[in-house]
Amino acid sequence: MLIKPKAAISSAEITDEQHFKQRRSLIKALLASGASGVLPVAAANAGQTPPLSATPAELVQSYNNYYEFAFDKESVRDLAQALPTDQWSLEIGGEVEKPGKFYLEDILRQQPLEERLYRFRCVEAWSMVVPWLGFPLQRLLAQVKPLSSAKFVKFTSVYQPEFMPNQERGLMLAWPYVEALRIDEAMHPLTILATGMYGNHLPKQNGAPLRLVVPWKYGFKSIKAIVKIELQSKPPVTTWNKSAPHEYGFYANVNPDVSHPRWSQATERPLGSALFTARRNTELFNGYAEQVASLYTNMDLRHFF
Ligand code: MTE
Repeated sequence: MLIKPKAAISSAEITDEQHFKQRRSLIKALLASGASGVLPVAAANAGQTPPLSATPAELVQSYNNYYEFAFDKESVRDLAQALPTDQWSLEIGGEVEKPGKFYLEDILRQQPLEERLYRFRCVEAWSMVVPWLGFPLQRLLAQVKPLSSAKFVKFTSVYQPEFMPNQERGLMLAWPYVEALRIDEAMHPLTILATGMYGNHLPKQNGAPLRLVVPWKYGFKSIKAIVKIELQSKPPVTTWNKSAPHEYGFYANVNPDVSHPRWSQATERPLGSALFTARRNTELFNGYAEQVASLYTNMDLRHFF
C-alpha cells in the first residue's frame, strides 16, 4: 500500500489552504515511497510470457497524443506544463445513488495505489509498456452506488481553452474530449484510474492528474485529465467515434484481424524501435484476452469494432 488511508474528510469541511497542504503531504508520501512502496504488480501481470519490460520513461513522456495541446507528439510535453492541476476535483453523477463532487486528494486518501505494468497499444499501430500507478475504477464507482439503470460510463476531460491552444482555436475535435465504456468494462478489474507512472507523479503530458487506462483497448479510450464521470442508461457520444465513426468504433478493442480503413492492425511498432523494423504481432485484446474476452461473448467484433 502506498498511502495509509486516513478517515475520510468531506471536501465541504476544509478550506482551500488545507487542501493545498494535504496535497503537499500526499505528494511527499508518494515520492517517499517510490515504486517499491506500492502494491506488487497486480495479478493481471503475472505469468505473462515473455515477461513484460517497461518502455523507457523518457520515451513515454516525450511522445504524446494530447490534441488539446498540439497535433504533433513532440511538442505536447512543453505545452502541457501550462495546465494547472492543483486542487483537482471530479464530479460523479448521473444514474447513481450518491452523486457528488470529490477532491482528488480525498479520493487518494481512500484508494491505495497499485502498480500495474500494462501494454498500451495506440490505434496508430505503435505500442509501449507502462508501469502505471493507480486504482481500479470499480472501487470509486462502488462508492457512488450505481443504479441498475446505469449501463454506460461517460468520461469528460478538462475544458480550459486559456491553457489548451487547440481548444482555444476550436481546432481538430469537438471539445472537451469525451470517452465512454460499457458499465461492465468500467467495472472490470483491469480498468484503472491512473495518477502516476514509473513510481512517480503522472506527468501533465500523460494526463495528470487523473486519467483512465483500459489496457485491452486502443489508447484513445484512455482519456486524460478527467473532470467528470457520468453514469448513463444510453450509449454516450464519444469524441473520436463522432468525428470519424467508420475509423474509430465505440468499443475500440485491440484486434489484429480488424484493420483500420487506412492501415492494418496486424502488427505494431514498439516505441523506441525503428520505424520499419522490429514490429511485433498485435494480440487480440492487446494480450488480455484471458481476462476480458468473456465481456464480448457472442458479439461480432468486426461489426462492434
Ligand atoms: N485524452 C485527451 N483528453 N486528449 C487526447 O488527445 N489522446 C488519446 C488518449 N487520451 C487524448 C487523450 C490518445 S489518441 C492516446 S494514444 C493516448 O491518450 C496517449 O497517451 P500518452 O500520451 O500518455 O501516451
